[in-house]
Amino acid sequence: MTAHTSHIDMTTIGAEFPILQQKIEGNPLVYLDNAATTQKPLAVIQAMTDYYMQCNSNVHRGAHHLADEATRRYEQARDTVAAFIHAADRSEVIWTSGTTEAINIVANGIAQRLKSGDEVLVTEMEHHANLVTWQQACLRSGATLKVAPIHDNGALDTEAFSALLSEKTKLVALPHVSNALGTVNPIHSLTQQAKAYGALVLIDGAQGIAHGGVDVQDIGCDFYAFSGHKLFGPTGVGVLWGKADVLQDWPVWQTGGEMIARVTYQESTWGELPNRLEAGTPNIAGVIGLAAAIDWFNRLDLAAVQSHERALLAYATEQAHSIDGLRIVGTAPDKIGVFSFIMQDSHPADIGFLLDKQGVAIRTGSHCAQPLMQRLGLPGTARASFSVYNTLEEVDVLFVALKKAQQMLA
Ligand code: ALA
Repeated sequence: MTAHTSHIDMTTIGAEFPILQQKIEGNPLVYLDNAATTQKPLAVIQAMTDYYMQCNSNVHRGAHHLADEATRRYEQARDTVAAFIHAADRSEVIWTSGTTEAINIVANGIAQRLKSGDEVLVTEMEHHANLVTWQQACLRSGATLKVAPIHDNGALDTEAFSALLSEKTKLVALPHVSNALGTVNPIHSLTQQAKAYGALVLIDGAQGIAHGGVDVQDIGCDFYAFSGHKLFGPTGVGVLWGKADVLQDWPVWQTGGEMIARVTYQESTWGELPNRLEAGTPNIAGVIGLAAAIDWFNRLDLAAVQSHERALLAYATEQAHSIDGLRIVGTAPDKIGVFSFIMQDSHPADIGFLLDKQGVAIRTGSHCAQPLMQRLGLPGTARASFSVYNTLEEVDVLFVALKKAQQMLA
């Protein structure tokens, strides 16, 4: 986090988000679906508009002013991301379409090295992106997928995790923060344990990145993947960060322009990082928007952000007791941002529908984590997820709306 003299005022932060200023069904919008995607501040929308209005052009190719300016903004964005996550080198920042593609790039590379007898270790709380990808990589290669269990409160069973590690473990893939439960995993110590066995470690940072303070060198992992749109940036852009010495020889992901060194009709050689993993014209506006989102986020006081988010969750947890039959799903001691719950005799989808009629946006269902729901014995949950611009008053609105929904469903 860069020091900044004038932090954004947390009490008026919502005003920076044009979309939040509207009414839904006559009620002020209360947006509590931030784990699905965050809203975008005007600064991000403006940066993307500016790109299209001032310098739309392809990067790295042109011999003209617009191309130079587009390339400058695009490559500056790589520096912004590298600094934000404390990458050792800017070439370790690979642009992707999002977390899912980033994980697939890693899987594409490692599947060629996996063989029968090798193991990949994930956890019971994975999002499908970090489960199905490894399940399929194991099926293709003959390796075995191991799944570290969670406790009933949604915390990882770290003893069981440790017991599952061995010399056979070639890769450990786990979420920084669970999208369905909000559990924050102790990624530093888990990474350290996995590295002791020589395993590669991938952290799915889709939900972790927007809570700030990610330092990839400090974590010690090999890969950290995240999406722009969960960090106040646009959809369709994300990052695969990987250690240069690991990514250097990584099998190429897609072939085409940008990623080559030399091409003949018979054969081709590949370029250096990061380009060798970035075939084709990239999402230039998206990359510029993501950098603008990080610049915006860097203007927040990180300690204030984190304490605000914890206060929102603590307040919602406290309020939960005021509703008979409401059960919170996911009560790990270290938890952030996510208030997942079920209500007796009410289907989550009905709750979501009735909240929407009152202007409150939540998500319902299995949250792209069907095996986790099976593990918990639930068809799904209702999930309110908080971000920096949410307020304690909005938590009050959520509970008023929930009480009304409960009455209607009775
Ligand atoms: N993975 C996103 C969520 O949790 C879409 O809602």
